Amino acid sequence: MKVDVLLGLQWGDEGKGKIVDVFTPKYDIIARFQGGPNAGHTLEFNGQKHVLHTIPSGIFHNDTKNIIGNGVILDPYIFDKEIQKLRLSDVQPENNLFVSKKAHLILPSHRLLDAVYEKSKGAQKIGSTLKGIGPCYTDKISRTGLRVGDLLCKDFDTKYQNLKKKHFTIIESYGYDLSDILFDNLSFDEYEKQWMKCTNTVKQMNIVDSEYLINNALKAGQKVLAEGAQGTMLDVEFGSYPFVTSSNTIASSVCSGLGIAPQKIGKVYGVFKAYCTRVGSGPFPTELFDADGQALRDNGHEYGSTTGRPRRCGWLDLPALKYAIMLNGVTDLVITKADVMDDFDYVKVGEKYLLENKELDFFPFEINDENLKPEYISHQGWKKDITKIDQIADLPKELMEYIAYVEKETEVPVSIISVGPDRKQTMIR
Ligand code: GDP
Ligand code: IMO
Ligand code: MG
Repeated sequence: MKVDVLLGLQWGDEGKGKIVDVFTPKYDIIARFQGGPNAGHTLEFNGQKHVLHTIPSGIFHNDTKNIIGNGVILDPYIFDKEIQKLRLSDVQPENNLFVSKKAHLILPSHRLLDAVYEKSKGAQKIGSTLKGIGPCYTDKISRTGLRVGDLLCKDFDTKYQNLKKKHFTIIESYGYDLSDILFDNLSFDEYEKQWMKCTNTVKQMNIVDSEYLINNALKAGQKVLAEGAQGTMLDVEFGSYPFVTSSNTIASSVCSGLGIAPQKIGKVYGVFKAYCTRVGSGPFPTELFDADGQALRDNGHEYGSTTGRPRRCGWLDLPALKYAIMLNGVTDLVITKADVMDDFDYVKVGEKYLLENKELDFFPFEINDENLKPEYISHQGWKKDITKIDQIADLPKELMEYIAYVEKETEVPVSIISVGPDRKQTMIR
């Protein structure tokens, strides 16, 4: 059996969580392979909305195993809050949630470092989610991090104190007043106490060698779906560096983030919004600052699932989408949120870039909003409420033309069309 992959092709928040939830009944295992609680994946069903940060989006299906893979980084405090919320929804995660021993731990001092680094960057800040992502992955690569498996070792406390001490040497060198940096409205000391308590919640879960669990499941003929977090344009290697996250978000990361050989990758589902959004700083060639941008934000409720920040909105960016499809080897496209433009007279697409007045149709190294201008093509709007449509044949002709245009340009079929946040508002071709 092969591992299918579902990931984001833009700057995150494409609707990955919703689609994973829809796909889950077809799979035995759903596994996160990278990222951490910077992610916010929203699922809606039975009139209820759930936001997941570290836990895979298959968790509401009792018969499906959910794995937090070795490539993920986990904050016990945030993880504990997620578990508590799931219990309120009658989910018993200890039955179907598995955590890799090799997943790295986000310490309270990683969060403090994130805050200090961002403060020191001033106007050049990344706009990080302040969840400690960059500092935790830095420790992983520097070979100084702590992992979930370390929680089970007798000397965890000593290891923790040693790493914290190293972090504080850096933090104090900045000379900032730290008293106004709060986590969940808690002072550092109080947060740290709570964090320590929450490590018990992690210990109550199934802590496993997830690479064996997944490979054995594949051998036994089980079906696995790898769930991406963030988006391709936030990939540390290929995204709009340095305004990126600190992990590889692309399909190749499934191999290292779960311990899977490259030939075991099957289908790659690439999720994209019918337009674009970005939260945080960094280049965004098709960003809109006008009434169309505001309408996308309002109609699409474009406010971050993790931080509540307003998302920057703009038209679909075709060169960036083609770049993302190339990097991931996307076999199937999933279009979400076309319904957000139901009342638009026209729908535009950035078809090519002009870099210092020269036409480009690829995604250049020298990307910034000053030198790069998109050339737009305009499509006719469909001017129809599509949120209640449940047959592809009933979708408006103008929307199908828009989709056909994307398929022609990208040479990849759009296999799934999502027309609303609910599980049921999904059509499979
Ligand atoms: P993720 O991080 O990729 O899982 O996406 P988020 O959950 O952060 O953001 C996507 C938002 O759009 C969530 O509020 C979803 O409930 C919502 N959503 C997903 N698909 C659709 C869709 O087709 N139409 C509309 N209107 N909302 C959608
Ligand atoms: P999901 O999985 C959207 C953005 C942050 C910031 C940059 C770096 O829900 O799609 P970090 O905290 O990772 O150091 O922040 O990346 N970012 C996301 N934007 N969706 C996400 O996840 C994101 N995770 C990080 O806003 O610009
Ligand atoms: Mg999100």
